[in-house]
Amino acid sequence: MTTQAVAHADSRRLTIVRTDDARVRADPNPTQAFARAVRDGLLARPRTLPFPYFYDEVGSALFEQICRIPEYYLTRTEDAILREHASAMIDGWTAPPTMVELGSGSAEKTRRLIAATLLRHGRLHYVPIDVSASAVDDSARALVKRFSALRVTAYVGDYLQSLAEIAARVPGPKLLVFLGSSLGNYEPEAAALLLAALAKVMGPDDRLLIGTDLAKSASVLEAAYDDAQGVTARFNRNILVRINRELGADFAPERFNHQAVYREDRERVEMHLVSQEDQVVNIPAADLTVRFARGDSIHTENSHKYTPASLLDLAGRGGFAEEASWTDPRGWFRVQRWRLRTLMGT
Ligand code: TRP
Repeated sequence: MTTQAVAHADSRRLTIVRTDDARVRADPNPTQAFARAVRDGLLARPRTLPFPYFYDEVGSALFEQICRIPEYYLTRTEDAILREHASAMIDGWTAPPTMVELGSGSAEKTRRLIAATLLRHGRLHYVPIDVSASAVDDSARALVKRFSALRVTAYVGDYLQSLAEIAARVPGPKLLVFLGSSLGNYEPEAAALLLAALAKVMGPDDRLLIGTDLAKSASVLEAAYDDAQGVTARFNRNILVRINRELGADFAPERFNHQAVYREDRERVEMHLVSQEDQVVNIPAADLTVRFARGDSIHTENSHKYTPASLLDLAGRGGFAEEASWTDPRGWFRVQRWRLRTLMGT
């Protein structure tokens, strides 16, 4: 791990920590981890690709664009909920809790919580974690510039590794923030494990604020993940471009169709890349040649949708109890505040 203090005026309040360095050192060739993950995914049935790798610099920028497309209601809806209820969401502490955000990205929506906390307490230590170095750099710099009473310690790396570091260093109460229905990109089992890992670094005065998308009609959901401008399609295909660049592969991304299907039985939108023809792809760094028949799919990502009941179940399995929740007038999205369950005596 390396810590880098950035040296100009506002930047005295900004520190960037790279927890991914530890992994890089453990693995002398960082490309190898990516190659292994790609190889495992493409040899599995159904074929998959590892979703954290979607967020390289281009992927993160495309995702920012997705957040603004008309069909992608999630960001807008969650932001409206945060705007309206930010002050209730940060209630309950006499001194400002450290705000730790998982998958902060551009941190646009989090500004609502940051502003509300600064208004109430006059100061805040904000600790964003993201796999994308470019997203963390840009957003952290913009935030210290925008808010003069804000201190930022930004982590580039994976959630669990960064959280362990943070838990060891942050003394007082924490507000963990996990927005954008990112939990829904995990399989239910993995989601429960992630929640349990969050619970493990939390104490009785800590809270988790978690934003999740709710189940709704297939037409609304499928449009959100297959927009008319084709931005989501480009985001999905970008992983192939990355594999070409970093692993020397020869994917022709345009020979794969982006497909988004809502599987009501599994309460999730599935994202696929479907081969439009018989083709052979070489991935030298993964020591792999893959044959695709026309119609073969790579199942790239899932976005799980919830109901208030399934969320309560998930909270319970992760070791949490719900303290409060907020939704929009259409009931499309839900933000909830959870605390450790043992404290409720249940
Ligand atoms: N957490 C976001 C979601 O599930 C991530 C996302 C949005 C996404 N659009 C996507 C993932 C398209 C893959 C493809 O909504």
